[in-house]
Order: sequence, then C-alpha cells, then structure tokens
Amino acid sequence: MTLAGARAALVAAIATWLATDAVGQPAARLEISLKAASCNACHGPGGRSEAGIPPLAGRPAKELSAALVGFKTGSRPAYVMQQHAKGYRDDEPVAIAEYFAAQPPERVRK
Ligand code: HEC
Repeated sequence: MTLAGARAALVAAIATWLATDAVGQPAARLEISLKAASCNACHGPGGRSEAGIPPLAGRPAKELSAALVGFKTGSRPAYVMQQHAKGYRDDEPVAIAEYFAAQPPERVRK
C-alpha cells in the first residue's frame, strides 16, 4: 500500500469510528438526557417525584413507553401529558422510557 493509500484508509477508519462511537452514540444519549431534563420540572429530579405526579425513575421501560405512546396518540387521557407528548418523534417515547427506566428510583446517597 502506498503512503497516500494508507493515509486514506486511516482517515476513513477514523471517520467511521467518530461517526459511530465517539460522536454518534453519546450525541444521541445527550439529546435524550436534555429532553428528559424537561420532564424533571414536574416528575422530579431524575424522575423521582415526591408528591402528586407519578414517578418515572426505575419503572419498566415498556410501561413508560406505552404510556407515552398513548399520550401521543390520544388513546390515554391526560390533563398535561397529551400536549407534552404530541411533540415527540416516533422513536422518542422508547428512548425517553429507557432513560428513565435506567435512573435509580431512590436518591443515591454518598
Ligand atoms: C407540566 C408538568 C409535566 C411535565 C413537564 C411532564 N409531565 Fe409527565 N405527567 C404529568 C402529569 C400531571 C401526569 C399525570 C397524567 C396527566 O394528567 O397528564 C403525567 C404522567 C406521566 C406518565 C404516566 C405515568 C403513570 O404512571 O401513569 C409518564 C410516563 C410521563 N408523565 C412521562 C413524562 C416524560 C417522559 C416527560 C418529559 C418528556 C414528562 N412526563 C413531562 C406532568 C408532567
């Protein structure tokens, strides 16, 4: 392989690596954690609400995503969540549900 060929192969390999691991995955995760931050105002920090509004942290992702899809489609009646969920892209209920399912239901004490 020529030096130029080797360099091109290396650049292509780095570009693929950047697009999938180093940039692709964390960027998607960051986007979801920013979206999830908008939920915390009502559902408590990390989805651990303390009064009135149902907690989200640590609940099964399937249960949460089913609720979110129901709010989005209007099949699940709600005062607040229908408006909120209407703006989700089709893939977001599952991603947001998985985010909250992975949050510890109790505050982690140090
Ligand atoms: C303005 C306050 C508010 C915000 C912001 C909010 N929620 Fe809610 N959420 C509610 C209320 C109130 C309910 C109870 C259903 C209703 O009346 O809308 C609820 C219900 C839910 C439920 C159903 C829980 C159950 O056990 O029935 C899920 C899941 C949920 N919210 C997820 C989210 C997610 C995810 C976000 C952020 C993307 C979010 N909520 C943002 C107020 C809010």
